[in-house]
Parts: sequence; C-alpha cells; structure tokens
Amino acid sequence: MSDTFASDSAESLGILETLVRPAVSRAGEREAESTSAPMVTVNGLGVAYGSKTALEGVSMLIPERRITAFIGPSGCGKSTALRCFNRMNDGISGFRISGGTVLLDGQDVYARGVNVTALRRAVGMVFQQPNPFPMSIYDNIALAVREHERGISRSTLDGIVEQALRQANLWDEVRDCLTQSALSLSGGQQQRLCIARALAVRPTVLMLDEPCASLDPISTGRIEELLLELSADYTIVIVTHNLAQAQRISDKVGFFLMGRLVEFGDALQVFEASARPETAEYVRGAFG
Ligand SMILES: Nc1ncnc2c1ncn2[C@@H]1O[C@H](COP(=O)(O)OP(=O)(O)OP(=O)(O)O)[C@@H](O)[C@H]1O
Ligand SMILES: [Mg+2]
Repeated sequence: MSDTFASDSAESLGILETLVRPAVSRAGEREAESTSAPMVTVNGLGVAYGSKTALEGVSMLIPERRITAFIGPSGCGKSTALRCFNRMNDGISGFRISGGTVLLDGQDVYARGVNVTALRRAVGMVFQQPNPFPMSIYDNIALAVREHERGISRSTLDGIVEQALRQANLWDEVRDCLTQSALSLSGGQQQRLCIARALAVRPTVLMLDEPCASLDPISTGRIEELLLELSADYTIVIVTHNLAQAQRISDKVGFFLMGRLVEFGDALQVFEASARPETAEYVRGAFG
C-alpha cells in the first residue's frame, strides 16, 4: 500500500490519525509479546437516551490484537457500549454520555476537536445484517477507500481491493467476478465482503455486532476462523448471543446486565469460574 494511503485528511486536527494502520503488517509480533496492552480503555462510562439510562459505571480494558466478546441478554447495553468506541451513537436523538471516558490507544474519543471521520476509520464496524452497497463487489471496497483517499490511482486501488478481499478470505471466490453485483453473493460471502470493506481503510479496531446472527453454521464457522486469523493484526470486539461462539473465539469476555458490566475477564475464567453468580447463571443458560 502507498504511504499516502496511510496519511489522513488535511483538515484533520491531528487526533487519532496515528491509529490508522501503518502499511507494514504487525502479524507475527503477537507471540513475542508477554502481555497485550489495552487498545480501548473504558472508565466509568455512563450513557443515557433521553431520561433512560442505558449504561452505568462501565469500566474495562480491551486488549490490543485479541478478541473481546460482549455477551448478555437483549437490551443490556452491548451495542450501545460498542457504538461509543467510534461515536456511532452521536447522531441518535437524546443520546448523551452521562459520565466516564473512552480512550482509544490513550486518546479520549469524546475530547473536543476529535476528528470523528478519522476515529471511524480507525475503528471499523460490521453489522448483524450484511449490508453491501447495491453495486459491484469491486466498487463496494473501492468506494470506502476513495472516501478517505481522493485521487487515488486505479492501480493502487486495485491492490488495496485485492488485499482486503484476501484478508477477508474472499479473494479466491470472487477474483473472477469483481464486476458482478455484491448482492449476488451468499449471505456469508456478503458478510466477508463487509469485513473486507472495513479492513480496506486499515482500521486498528474491528467491531462486529452479532455478525453471524443471520448466517448458517458453515458460514459462521468461516467468519470465526477469519476473526481468529485477523486477531493477529487487529483488536477485535464482537457482540454475540452465541455463547459457544464466544467460548470458541474470544480471549476476553464482558458480561452485561441491565446497563452494567457485571463481569469482565479472561474467557475461560468467565465461562468456567465466573466471579459473579449472575454471570454463572447466564452462561449456564438459566436466563436471557
Ligand atoms: N436509539 C435508541 N433510542 C433510545 N433508546 C435506545 C436506543 N438504542 C438503544 N436504546 C436503549 O438502550 C438500552 C440498551 O440497548 P442496546 O441496543 O445497547 O442493547 P443490546 O444489549 O445491544 O441488545 P440486543 O442484544 O437486543 O441487541 C435498551 O434499553 C434500549 O432500549
Ligand atoms: Mg445490540
């Protein structure tokens, strides 16, 4: 990838551009690290929608280049927490931060002057329903890249599209039909295309909100394998209602209940030796 691709817009206020990935992959460093530094630090976060409290006193350290899973019953605040990491809640009427901070690599994402476009580039998002644009496979990725890199050359763009599709383990399936509509792909392929689209702008954090909820077990397995591979290079945060999935792929687990983070810890510990009785009940399927 070109160096120019890594630089941010001229109007950027300088906050968060450093979080756009460097051109050189950090794959392979994981083994060399004894511990993983926090990429997202949440400290006493409170969120309200109008007069309704959605999150209260949420604190956690999300490690770099690991998979963190948020679990908990419907309405407990998992998506709200995730959307605070790249300020996707900003446009929701009545939304407000009622307390606390969210730091991305040490930088306060809600600080005055934060370039929200740069933040959203650094913290990519994939949703429950695959949502490719109604255009070609190639253009789905090219459009996302062009938004950040106006005037990028066709050959550079071709390279970025190919790399993103390879990273998402989709290249071999679509290399001969890049001009075909993305809507002609299967649901699982569409979801991998959405992951490729998120990766193409080289985020640091990849967030996925129930990404396998509409997929069959085989497509789900492929996404899980992909996330495990990507966690060598990316900090991944996934919301899932599938406890077996959280057990299969996550390093850390956060259990939310009625707007509070009841427990956050190593996946094995949370599932097999829960610190709190509510967690133990939830993970053995007693409610939710
Ligand atoms: N746009 C919104 N406007 C008002 N209230 C909202 C909005 N989005 C979420 N809430 C409320 O905030 C609380 C947390 O919702 P959130 O969507 O974060 O939960 P969740 O854990 O992701 O649930 P699910 O598992 O069903 O996706 C809920 O009480 C919900 O009704
Ligand atoms: Mg949700």
